[in-house]
Amino acid sequence: ALKDNTVIIVLGASGDLAQKKTFPALFTLFRQGYLPKGVHIVGYARTKMDLPEFHRRQTVYIKNKDDPEIKKKLDEFSALSTYVAGAYDQDAAFQQLTKHLEEIEGTYGAAEANRVFYMALPPSVFTTVAQHLRSNCYSTKGHNRIIIEKPFGKDLDSCREMMSALKAVWTEDETYRIDHYLGKEMVKNLLVLRFGNTALTPSWDKNSIANVQITFKEPFGTEGRGGYFDEFGIIRDILQNHLLQVLSILTMERPVSFSAEDIRDEKVKVLRAIPPVAREDTLLGQYVGANGKPGYLEDDTVPKGSTCPTFAATTLWIHNPRWEGVPFILRAGKAVNEAKVEIRIQYKEVTQGIFKDISRNELVIRIQPNEAVYIKLNLKTPGMATRAMPTEMDLTYKRRFTDAVIPEAYEALILDAIHGDHSNFVRDDELDVAWKIWTPLLHWIDGREGSPPKPEPYPYGSRGPKQLDAYIAKYGYKRTDRTYSWPVTNVS
Ligand code: BG6
Repeated sequence: ALKDNTVIIVLGASGDLAQKKTFPALFTLFRQGYLPKGVHIVGYARTKMDLPEFHRRQTVYIKNKDDPEIKKKLDEFSALSTYVAGAYDQDAAFQQLTKHLEEIEGTYGAAEANRVFYMALPPSVFTTVAQHLRSNCYSTKGHNRIIIEKPFGKDLDSCREMMSALKAVWTEDETYRIDHYLGKEMVKNLLVLRFGNTALTPSWDKNSIANVQITFKEPFGTEGRGGYFDEFGIIRDILQNHLLQVLSILTMERPVSFSAEDIRDEKVKVLRAIPPVAREDTLLGQYVGANGKPGYLEDDTVPKGSTCPTFAATTLWIHNPRWEGVPFILRAGKAVNEAKVEIRIQYKEVTQGIFKDISRNELVIRIQPNEAVYIKLNLKTPGMATRAMPTEMDLTYKRRFTDAVIPEAYEALILDAIHGDHSNFVRDDELDVAWKIWTPLLHWIDGREGSPPKPEPYPYGSRGPKQLDAYIAKYGYKRTDRTYSWPVTNVS
């Protein structure tokens, strides 16, 4: 098969991303038998270390290492994993890597040899490494693929600059830009949920839907990572990429097919109908110390007096016939009260008359933790009384699919890249239009247009700035009144 005889080269193999995400994902794929026949894994980084040390680092974050089955698989995994140390900016170093790859590929015989380069690297070296790989490590005996991950620049111009430097050496077809939210089960599920259900499809528009919220909440701050975070802020970290990707799949028109280009064409089309986010539609926050937890500014790696937002709520509008007038609230916060990512679609009110003030329907897609789809419906209270009550139709995955194994995002995406499927990767024009939506707002927040806005403080572990409820209410979201009852006069 096309994908057989593949070497996966992990650049930045001694770093955090590789150890926490890339290697554990590769190991799970290997253990479950998903990696292609003849696969080899080669780590590359500047750190000099011997093979046992590399194997140790490769497996730091792998769980249940004492389990005999896992241990056996880990030994096999180590046996096909090797390491090369070298600089990120020297041809000679990359030629050493090529020599190593050719030795491995020698065992493939005359068969083709494919290379997948996974860049688990800081953005400062993306371009240099991509160039050196292309000129020194390009396989002529099979396909070459390069996987990269954000940050892709900091605004429209810097993104374009980076993309064109990369495109000068790697083609779009060879490039796999990760947004790991696209690898999450419930995000992938949106296509089927939306387009595979006639019960839902006709109500998926401004006529039925009042407002939509896409929410990201993390219960921890930027501890230790503040230096990195401060350069970017919550909008670049979460909203510009992860939440906007979810929004585009949630709102796009039905693609002609499941092919990568058909899906991405539709995503780009809907994103192009979104004007840049307005300042007036924005609520920014920054967490302060509470309950023994340090505030953002108390982190030594954060510059003094930083106005970097660690929380943002923004409202986006889609100017097309399907969505005109529906507010899409995207919000994300670090150091808030819980860990949760969800989509909440609130339907319009039932026509007044026989009902007064009955609860709105809400469809909730919980992306994590504890995947679920549920819809809030009104039913008659069972029994003699004729009263309406709000209740839920609940598809919690753990209950419904008791034996299903839900893959990690990186597992799903790495496998897609190995198979050459671009559907769940970000296309160049998609990235471009995404930056157009956020860049004016970001420049204002960065203080490029006078003094930067001051984020509202919120205590570590709270729901966010105290203005949040009023902000959401302004866009028409109505909290469900769970105790509502439906008084009917003509009960017989
Ligand atoms: C990353 C952000 O892209 O996503 C992190 O840089 C964030 O700040 C992470 O914690 C969240 O990913 P997940 O999969 O844990 O929701």
